[in-house]
Amino acid sequence: MDMFVVQGGRPLAGTVRVSGSKNATLPIMAAALAADGETTLENVPDLVDVRTLSKLLQSLGVAVQHDPSGRMTLRPEDDGSSTADYHLVRQMRASVCVLGPLLARRGHACVSLPGGCNIGHRPIDLHLKGLAALGAEIEVRGGYVHAVAKRLRGAQIYLGGVNGSTVTGTCNVMSAAALAEGTTVITAAACEPEVVALARFLNAMGARITGEGTPRIEIEGVQRITGTKFQIIPDRVEAATLLIAAAITGGSLTLEQVWPDHLTAVIEVLKEMGCSIDSAAKETLTLKVERPLRPVDLTALPYPGVPTDVQAQLMALACTLPGASVIRDMVFPDRFMHVSELCRMGAQIRQQGSMAIVNGVPQLTGAHVMASDLRASAALVLAGLAADGETTIRRIYHLDRGYEQLEAKLEALGADVTRVNERAAGLQLRHVDDSEVAEPKKKSA
Ligand code: EPU
Repeated sequence: MDMFVVQGGRPLAGTVRVSGSKNATLPIMAAALAADGETTLENVPDLVDVRTLSKLLQSLGVAVQHDPSGRMTLRPEDDGSSTADYHLVRQMRASVCVLGPLLARRGHACVSLPGGCNIGHRPIDLHLKGLAALGAEIEVRGGYVHAVAKRLRGAQIYLGGVNGSTVTGTCNVMSAAALAEGTTVITAAACEPEVVALARFLNAMGARITGEGTPRIEIEGVQRITGTKFQIIPDRVEAATLLIAAAITGGSLTLEQVWPDHLTAVIEVLKEMGCSIDSAAKETLTLKVERPLRPVDLTALPYPGVPTDVQAQLMALACTLPGASVIRDMVFPDRFMHVSELCRMGAQIRQQGSMAIVNGVPQLTGAHVMASDLRASAALVLAGLAADGETTIRRIYHLDRGYEQLEAKLEALGADVTRVNERAAGLQLRHVDDSEVAEPKKKSA
């Protein structure tokens, strides 16, 4: 298992290019399954999650090739298996994105339930409600969702849940409705840029979707969709993480190949803290910091609010600011696994339900910490960059699921981050059992 060793205290400076978006890539790859012919995607990030979904699609009869330039081709070759097996689905929650495309294309789908997750309870009831409204017969049996429909029919579907809409649920229902007979109207649809990207991809394949990016999406069903060429949008979460890395080290940074419009809420929060951000140039963002920054009061909300996927990283930054910050998460109210690890680095955080009160400390200190999920791992790396001394972050396989070459990008900006194989370095941890740490048993996202 790999870990990161971070020597803190170096302000970041320089320019870095943002990779393609993980959360846009995954539902788009899944939707390619429903097309006639080959799809070519550009700017696909090389991530563990992308490789996992590639394997799953291969098991469903899709030929997938991903070359180092970021080009991926997906060619549905046979309508063989429609079963998304537990051993692949459990590795990545987003595997559930194949449910809608499989059902629409093949008339049946059998997809393992994704199971538990380190960022809180994540049901898929809204996905199932949407597909049932389209006429699918759905049964949950033996840990699998079995869905059958000869031809889906357009319907009015409300996708609001207790914590807002659902991003991958909207993707699933939209992909399925693209091939349904008649018109579907989704209300309380997720407005995230990744949903918009999927709608544009489906339209490029011949679907008829309007209203993407608003809570009301209208889909006029078509008989078939055909393979196309499509460019994956930049990863707004990676972009935000890098901006926060610069802010936490008191550095400066220029991001290239970024869409600032997707980062409005994050930019606003960083400005409130006192960072100066320039987004005048096309697809570029520049951040400069003059310490001290100010604490904040923020709530993670569905888009266009502050993303839950940036909550942990913003918390790491808040830990280093004088005064009290208040951070809430209304999307995943239990997404606070990073709190106890940040506290091991000297942070002062009190968590109460879906809220954390962070009292900034003059200096975080390097420590041995454990990554618990993808964005929590990023938060620990950021804290390590700002800490005094050395921080070792174990279980960074979480990070590899969603950040492309993060350590190389940070090093190019002047950080000292080294990837070390625990075993090779003779640093094998003694066995730590579940009573001591919350061991992530399942991967998710
Ligand atoms: N929810 C339900 N019922 C459902 C679906 C969701 O109650 O059927 C609840 C969830 O429990 C949660 C809220 O609705 O409280 C929002 O969940 P959503 O379905 O939108 O999340 P998701 O689609 O499973 C995607 C991203 C996550 C990101 C969330 C929120 C992908 C592959 N994953 O997950 O990304 O946090 O949207 O924006 O797109 C990450 O990249 O680290 C990550 C976790």
